[in-house]
Amino acid sequence: MAIRNLQQRPDKNEPPSLSFDSQAVHAGNVVDATTGAIRTPIVMANSYRLPDDPSSLDWSDSQTLFYTRNSGHNQLCLERKLAAMERGEDAAVFSTGVAALHAIFFTFLKSGDHVVVSDVTYEAVWRLFSELLPQRYGIEATFVDISDLDAVRQAVRPNTKLIHAETIANPTTKVADVHAIAQIAHEAGAMLSIDATFTPPPMFRALEHGADLVVHALTKYINGHGDAMGGAVIGPAELIRRLKGDALVDVGGSISPFNAWLIMRGSVTLPLRLTQHMSTAQKVSEFLDKDPRVAFVVFPGLLSHPQHELASRQFGGMGYGAVMAFAVKGGPEIQNRFVANLRLITSAVSLGHDETLIVHVGKLGRGGSECYPGVFQQYGHLRLSIGLEDPADLIADIKEALDETFA
Ligand SMILES: Cc1ncc(COP(=O)(O)O)c(C=O)c1O
Repeated sequence: MAIRNLQQRPDKNEPPSLSFDSQAVHAGNVVDATTGAIRTPIVMANSYRLPDDPSSLDWSDSQTLFYTRNSGHNQLCLERKLAAMERGEDAAVFSTGVAALHAIFFTFLKSGDHVVVSDVTYEAVWRLFSELLPQRYGIEATFVDISDLDAVRQAVRPNTKLIHAETIANPTTKVADVHAIAQIAHEAGAMLSIDATFTPPPMFRALEHGADLVVHALTKYINGHGDAMGGAVIGPAELIRRLKGDALVDVGGSISPFNAWLIMRGSVTLPLRLTQHMSTAQKVSEFLDKDPRVAFVVFPGLLSHPQHELASRQFGGMGYGAVMAFAVKGGPEIQNRFVANLRLITSAVSLGHDETLIVHVGKLGRGGSECYPGVFQQYGHLRLSIGLEDPADLIADIKEALDETFA
């Protein structure tokens, strides 16, 4: 019996000429050969039947279906879809966004290498580069204000192998000029990896702006429903092949078929959701900006954001994401009181969900100060991820909570 290999299967669903909306519906979806089901079914199997002579199989192969840690039907379908949506050659999916980030660092860095990292990133990246990778594996990192291109240039060393940044950084919304940073990386012979979790396609495609690899926490906007975790790296086929071989097959971190299927389904509505998220975020940020009880609000869609112009240029006017940082006037107990007074908005970590989420992050111990002098340190801050509720309801919830907090 011949083993199934999705690479060999003709595919009608991913011509690059399809618009993003059509790709979000069709890319990666496979009509089930057994039942005729028009949506890819969930294949919950650890193993696939081997060919009559398996002795010539490459046990590290991640395209041929034989063991679910290496690959699986739902994983491959999702990878094809993500590659199509990002216009990359190939994709690798993982159990979480952090597993995807770690896969890049683990595969492409070795002892003695140097990395330039944005001083504002998701917490796990900060810890990987400030503690785990230098102390255990001898990989050095320099944290820089990624909005200062001269500082990025100066941080590069002869042994710099990678620059890593987020398009819009979690949590301060600092924006990376991907095109300019890619030039610096490539002049130095280094790669650029971009975490584009806050700016999924069609809003932005980092590979088209010079990034070598783009990462998404699928847990956020691409799934969008707050019910599955996943991560992905998209880029040239050869880099993805190495990444799967080293970080997926030999380290694990594989996504479950069920979560891959959920993310596949969630991503169908990505373009519709993203438009709604971003337009509501703009309205909420403008409301917060005008209220005298709000100490500050930082959102790339506001004219007051120091990188508003860069964000407008880079994201082509489609929007500015849907996460903002702000604080109400007062200390930590006032922030907590305000959050407790919210009725519709939920206090919980994560972002990019259908429901609006808020977190009292507290004072920022690192980064942020160069871009937004003082504010994050003075007040601490709240991170607000705008969901899909009616903007009027969200604004009413915030207004009532402010009224109660300052009554
Ligand atoms: C920008 C960014 N990258 C990566 C991650 C990690 O994703 P996960 O929680 O799926 O590991 C997050 C999580 O919030 C994030 O905001």
